[in-house]
Amino acid sequence: MNILVTGAAGQIGSELIGELRRRYGTEAVIASDINAEAGKELQKSGPFELADCTNYDKMKEVIRTYHIKTIYHLAAILSATAEAKPQLAWNVNINGLYIILELAREYGCSVFTPSSIGAFGPTTPKINTPQDTVQRPTSMYGVTKVTGELLCDYYYQKFGVDTRGLRYPGIISNVTLPGGGTTDYAVDIFYEAIRNRKYTCFLKKGTYLDMMYMPDAIEGAIQLMETEGEKLKHRNAFNVTAMSFDPEEIASEIKKHIPEFQIIYEVDPVRQAIADSWPQHMDDSAARQEWGWNPRYDLAGMTEDMIQTLQDRLVPAGEKIND
Ligand code: NAD
Ligand code: SER
Repeated sequence: MNILVTGAAGQIGSELIGELRRRYGTEAVIASDINAEAGKELQKSGPFELADCTNYDKMKEVIRTYHIKTIYHLAAILSATAEAKPQLAWNVNINGLYIILELAREYGCSVFTPSSIGAFGPTTPKINTPQDTVQRPTSMYGVTKVTGELLCDYYYQKFGVDTRGLRYPGIISNVTLPGGGTTDYAVDIFYEAIRNRKYTCFLKKGTYLDMMYMPDAIEGAIQLMETEGEKLKHRNAFNVTAMSFDPEEIASEIKKHIPEFQIIYEVDPVRQAIADSWPQHMDDSAARQEWGWNPRYDLAGMTEDMIQTLQDRLVPAGEKIND
């Protein structure tokens, strides 16, 4: 009953791997990614396969060799990179997912696939965005995420593949830097606050977006995968959120710990347009009702933990905020 994680070197994968191995054992969890450099590191802590998710034969070999029964399919191109390289984004996010779903059908695997707030668009209600609502995204990332949600639903309905997924908001974390998304500012801001006491933000004031701290993102994925299937009405693409803020609110929260911290703005029109097309705050009551979603971290708790963790890692003894 082994588990495969694709995109394991990424922001979410690099932390999901550790938690899955703690729960199910090191040898039962196989990490895979296309990033050979990061793979060398991953190899030190357990099984790793250098594998491109768009390569059917290679993915088949991995799934057969390790007797995989559960796949956390995280390999993807995120929103800002997808806007710069839309053809690559379609290939990885859709053709890669199609290959994973086909192999899951063939080998009887269950599949977790993250969707995103990016699956919504400018005509979606922005406040209390319903679980089931209009989805007409205007970014290539969003187009691939809606398509992915529908493809996962189809594989469940048509072939009985146990597909499940979450619509993640921006994920904030301190192990691996995010990989080319629009919500990355909410991670960068902490590194810059600790190192330089100043951050130049590429989104403008008043840009409210849903966010979540990594421990909740990991717990949510595993909890959903462990829920009895009969309890789930919305198998794929559950709205999940833990907090919603704009750059000013997160900066104010950081100032409570680092009073001299300053935020200034240099807006990137591409990422601003993407952010403006996304919800400000999703209604995640379906996830709460169907499988008990209940995040632990709010803005204050996440900020305190991020600052403490990064300070311990990045700041030499004697120079810490409270020294
Ligand atoms: P990331 O960019 O940090 O990591 C993605 C990983 O996929 C990278 O390590 C990359 O090397 C790998 N990859 C790219 N192309 C590949 C290929 N062809 N074959 C194999 N591996 C390949 O992304 P992440 O933040 O960890 O996101 C994981 C999933 O969660 C994605 O589906 C993403 O859309 C979704 N998601 C993330 C966030 C977030 O804020 N991080 C929010 C919503 C949804
Ligand atoms: N964090 C992701 C991005 O900005 C949301 O899916 O691309």
